[in-house]
Amino acid sequence: MKLLSCVLALVLASTAHAGRFVNITIDDASPSVIYAQTPYVRCTPTSSCDPSWVAQLYNGTSSITSGAVIVPFQGTAVYVYLGVEGTSYFSIDGSIRSSATGQDYMQNGLAFGEWGLANTNHVLAILPSNFTGEIIQLDYIVYTHELPGKNVGAIVGWVVGGLAFMAVLSWLGLLLVRRRRLRRISMRGIRLRDDWTERPSLQLDSGSLPQKPKIAL
Ligand SMILES: *[C@@H]1O[C@H](CO)[C@@H](O)[C@H](O)[C@H]1NC(C)=O
Ligand SMILES: *[C@@H]1O[C@H](CO)[C@@H](O)[C@H](O)[C@H]1NC(C)=O
Ligand SMILES: *[C@@H]1O[C@H](CO)[C@@H](O)[C@H](O)[C@H]1NC(C)=O
Repeated sequence: MKLLSCVLALVLASTAHAGRFVNITIDDASPSVIYAQTPYVRCTPTSSCDPSWVAQLYNGTSSITSGAVIVPFQGTAVYVYLGVEGTSYFSIDGSIRSSATGQDYMQNGLAFGEWGLANTNHVLAILPSNFTGEIIQLDYIVYTHELPGKNVGAIVGWVVGGLAFMAVLSWLGLLLVRRRRLRRISMRGIRLRDDWTERPSLQLDSGSLPQKPKIAL
């Protein structure tokens, strides 16, 4: 009964989180963002960038560059928030998916989004166009990650695993009970045999049966 409730609790715990997705934000200043060229300017609350404008940035920072930006991530979707002057291309795992064109790199917004990816490792690249004057101002990137082991397969796995575990446990229990009973029987046997040798009169071996004294008639 205790086991059954334990397995039930496990199943409930795994179904409660079934299909859980989390959004993870990568700031432009995060070490997981790789810049092919050192950004011209990094806007921070203490930089030369307009403080009232900086206050609207994610975590108060952005990076201004004309070089490629590479961001590895593991997830099912990715969104890029930046401002662009010129045209910027977006690629995932080496294939260009779309582009964004803007007039002012100071105007931030959602420039690229893609979803429906496998929940595996991907490489996002923000590539400069062939227009030499292109500038991007990267604010942040969001990606959606699916938590591991929270799908139907995992739940089925838990149930089957739990049942197998219970079966093994009850089999072990039966084995234990049977062995204990066998030991009790054999112990009883030993004790009886001991008793018999102490009292030879009880032994069934006819050779040692006490002979009735023969009475001469
Ligand atoms: C993650 O962010 C995207 C874009 O803002 C949104 O559409 C999606 O619902 C979010 N997902 C979660 C799990 O918060
Ligand atoms: C926000 O910026 C601070 C430094 O100003 C840094 O320590 C922190 O890690 C940043 N947070 C995120 C989520 O990037
Ligand atoms: C850049 O220009 C070359 C040739 O002019 C072209 O083949 C290539 O596709 C262009 N790249 C982009 C990202 O537009």
